[in-house]
This record gives sequence, C-alpha cells and structure tokens, in this order.
Amino acid sequence: MKILVTGGAGFIGSNVVENYVKSGHEVIVVDNLSSGKIENIPSGVSFYPVDVRADELEEIIAVHQPDIVNHHAAQKSVLASIKDPLLDTDINLIGMIKLLNASVKHGVKKFIFASSGGALSGDASQIPTPESWVPSFSSPYAINKYVCERYLALFSDLYGLDFTVLRYANVYGPRQDTAGESGVVSIFIQNILNHVPSSIFTDLTMPRGTARDYVYVDDVAQANTLALSRGNLEILNIGSGREVYTADLYFKLEGIMETHIPPTYSERPVGDVARSCLDSTRVRDVLGWEPVVDLMQGLVRTVTYYKDIHFRSRARERN
Ligand SMILES: NC(=O)c1ccc[n+]([C@@H]2O[C@H](COP(=O)([O-])OP(=O)(O)OC[C@H]3O[C@@H](n4cnc5c(N)ncnc54)[C@H](O)[C@@H]3O)[C@@H](O)[C@H]2O)c1
Repeated sequence: MKILVTGGAGFIGSNVVENYVKSGHEVIVVDNLSSGKIENIPSGVSFYPVDVRADELEEIIAVHQPDIVNHHAAQKSVLASIKDPLLDTDINLIGMIKLLNASVKHGVKKFIFASSGGALSGDASQIPTPESWVPSFSSPYAINKYVCERYLALFSDLYGLDFTVLRYANVYGPRQDTAGESGVVSIFIQNILNHVPSSIFTDLTMPRGTARDYVYVDDVAQANTLALSRGNLEILNIGSGREVYTADLYFKLEGIMETHIPPTYSERPVGDVARSCLDSTRVRDVLGWEPVVDLMQGLVRTVTYYKDIHFRSRARERN
C-alpha cells in the first residue's frame, strides 16, 4: 500500500513509519520538523519538510495518490494549548480539515488518526475508561482532538472516507522528546542521567502523583499497522488498562538505573488530568491488538536507548 504519514519524523510517527516500511509498504512523510528530527525517518521513504496547513500538502497528495493517510502531526502539548488555543486550533483542527479536504479530493481510501484517550477521558469517574464514555474536556487540545474525530465521522458520511481513530494512552519509548511536559518517562530518564531531581505533579488527594496508563511505542506502531486493513469506522482505545502513579513510575526508573535522586513534588497544573487509564478491551476484538511489551520491559528498553545517546554524546564532548 502507499501510505502518507504526517508527523513521521516525530516520536510515534517515526516508529509507525518504520513498521510500515518493514511490512513492505511505500511511505511518504510530511513533517515540518517543528519537533521531529530528519534522522528519525528511515531510508527509502519520500520526505517533504512541509507544514500540514500549507497549500503544498494538496500537491503532495495529488502527486503520490496515497491509499491511506495516517495523521500524527500535531501540537501535542496540553498546557501549550491552554496558553494558546488559537495556535492549537490552527495546527490541530485547521491542519486536519485541510488534510481531510485534500484526501477526499484525491481518492484516499482510509484515514488513520492519532487521538488522545487520556485527554478525552479527562478525570472520568469510570476507570479504566471505555470509548463509550462521554468525553469531558479540560483543554483546547482535548476539544480539538474530539472535533477532529467528529470531522472524520462527517467526512465518512459525506464522502465515504473510511477511518480508524486510535485514542492513545501515554505512549513512551525511544525517540520521545525530552523537552516540555509530555513524555514523562523520557524526561525522568534524562533527569536521572544528568543527576537532576524530577518534579512530580500531585495534589492533596493523590500523594503519589497523578495516575497514567503507559503503552510502549512498538505496540502503538503495531496498532497502526493492523488499522491499515481492519477497524473501519471505529474509535479505539490503545492502552494497557493499568493505572500507574507517577511517583511509582519514577521509583521503577530509579531501580532500573540503580540510582537515588529524591524527586520534588509540585501542584498539578490546571488542565492536567488527575487520573487517566483506558479500557482497551474493545480493540482486541476489532483489530486483534493487545500490548505485548509490559511496563518493566518497555522501561528497560527506553533506559538503554537514552543511556546510549547520553554516553555517546559525553564521549563526543571529551574528544
Ligand atoms: N505521546 C503521547 O503519549 C500521545 C498520546 C496521545 C496522542 N498523541 C498524539 O500522537 C501524535 C504524535 O505525537 P508524538 O508524541 O509523537 O509527538 P511529536 O512531537 O514527537 O510528533 C509530532 C510530529 O509532528 C510534526 N509537526 C508538528 N506540527 C506540524 C505541522 N503543523 N505540520 C507538519 N508537521 C508537524 C513535528 O515536527 C513532529 O515530528 C500527535 O497527534 C499527538 O497528539 C500522543
């Protein structure tokens, strides 16, 4: 199949691209490199350093005529969306609509969309939270992800576009950005390697910090591969179904890295949900997907990846 992946130079997108290439698909990547890195894109892939809001996007789709569009490009920060809702809407919603328009105009058969289970289930009283939970919104990021899902359903009705929405839990693994507030696993590992204390968001009701559902990026990439041929018109949670407190996650990493740097605790910021954990049982029936990498295995692999980068860069500095 011919697949256009937006955000394919980023953390999740590049792992998705790698999986598609390994499965023998032809891949085209569109990414403005605002947070992605060109070295994340595997060889043999056509790459366009273009913004999803730019007019060139339609030309790229017209030239390549992909069967599938997989949309991972986004402004990914919940807190940034609260500070600048217009920017979030411009990238995450207007960008999506431009991509949808170009897709239906040039005969794309199916659209796979990276949504957020954590942001949409925003402090649900039902934990783990199923897809049927009526979303509550604590950020423009969550609203825009949800509106994108609604646009997909509308474009499906109007133009017959097939789609699968994958609502991710907290994805972690190699190539995750260590800047900003998302990507707590990579941020904690980086802090430990630099002997810097990490800050854990908490409040009076949650002394061990906020609780999250962690899913390893290889498992997420596999869900994107299964969605190429299954799961039409479905919205599916992609998570582990297990809640992990942030302090416990930190102590697991300390254990793996054989170090002890006491964390600091700070007030949970507005917009950051206290608990999120996805009920991912439905996707087993629909895609035949379940996570195969458990948390300890995934953390060990991620630590190995960041340690390698850290020690190679230290060696370069010494030479
Ligand atoms: N990381 C998670 O835990 C998580 C959870 C839920 C949903 N998601 C969603 O998954 C997707 C990928 O997230 P990620 O964690 O890999 O983030 P990331 O920042 O590593 O990847 C996003 C990529 O999109 C590119 N990009 C951003 N704005 C663009 C634009 N206007 N035009 C073209 N390219 C643009 C960036 O350069 C980057 O390569 C996002 O849609 C995000 O909302 C991520």
